[in-house]
Amino acid sequence: MILNGKKIAEEVLLELKQKIDSLKTKRPPLLAYLLIGENPASHIYVKYKVKACKQIGIQTRGFELSQNISQGEVLQLIAELNLDPLVDGILVQMPLPPQINSQQVIESVDPTKDVDGFHPLNIGRLLLGYEPYFIPCTPLGIHEILLRSNISTVGKHIVIMGRSNIVGKPLAALFMQKNNLANATISLVHSYTENLDQITEQADVLIAAMGNPEFVQSAMVKNGAIVIDVGINRKDKKLVGDVNFTEVAPKASHITPVPGGVGPMTIAMLLSNTLKSYQLREQLT
Ligand code: GUN
Repeated sequence: MILNGKKIAEEVLLELKQKIDSLKTKRPPLLAYLLIGENPASHIYVKYKVKACKQIGIQTRGFELSQNISQGEVLQLIAELNLDPLVDGILVQMPLPPQINSQQVIESVDPTKDVDGFHPLNIGRLLLGYEPYFIPCTPLGIHEILLRSNISTVGKHIVIMGRSNIVGKPLAALFMQKNNLANATISLVHSYTENLDQITEQADVLIAAMGNPEFVQSAMVKNGAIVIDVGINRKDKKLVGDVNFTEVAPKASHITPVPGGVGPMTIAMLLSNTLKSYQLREQLT
């Protein structure tokens, strides 16, 4: 069965739109974004994010900055956005050019405006089981796909492929938590893992997030597994995931396609986090 992330994301966007339409406050929610340099994929992702914001009534304020911008200029801009009471969310599209220190940039964002959930305070709280202000959008989107498809992870073996700060690490933190919406057994495998196939074929839920086009073959997957594909790769001018969909789909009980799986949910969760931030700010003032 195909887990239709696009359709679930449309449902989420509709719910968010209804909530925003019913707001009786003086100002709309606002997402500020920094798009630095010429990375074509980043430009496409940001375009989709802005379009989705427009669709549901979130305003955007965009800063499209030169590849050669200095660290100081980026930090100065973020400091201003941190202080601006009209700004609810600050998104810094990754990756950043080589002269920019990403860690310092991520740490400079006010954790209460960190709608990507990348700040160490938010990641740390997630890991410790304290409520973070925000959970990173891709892990949260995967969680929401499973939740809305009535798939429980309690007691299940989730194998995560990839250890990025954006996806692999926060996914592990999210699904290991002690609550009814997690309680999973987690294995996290990566490029140095020995006997990789022996681990992946034990997965009840296999999440591929290592950025390697069509790497997951059917021999690596258990019969009836749930397969979540986070990859977005270009191969022969076609968009493919980290899973060989044609091979793996017949073996999986559920599988997310690329495109139309996890990607739209990442965007939906960004908007959900932005509305959450708005509500937090309105409570504070
Ligand atoms: N680059 C790839 N994925 C993401 C994301 O979810 N947020 C940001 N800011 N950059 C990204």
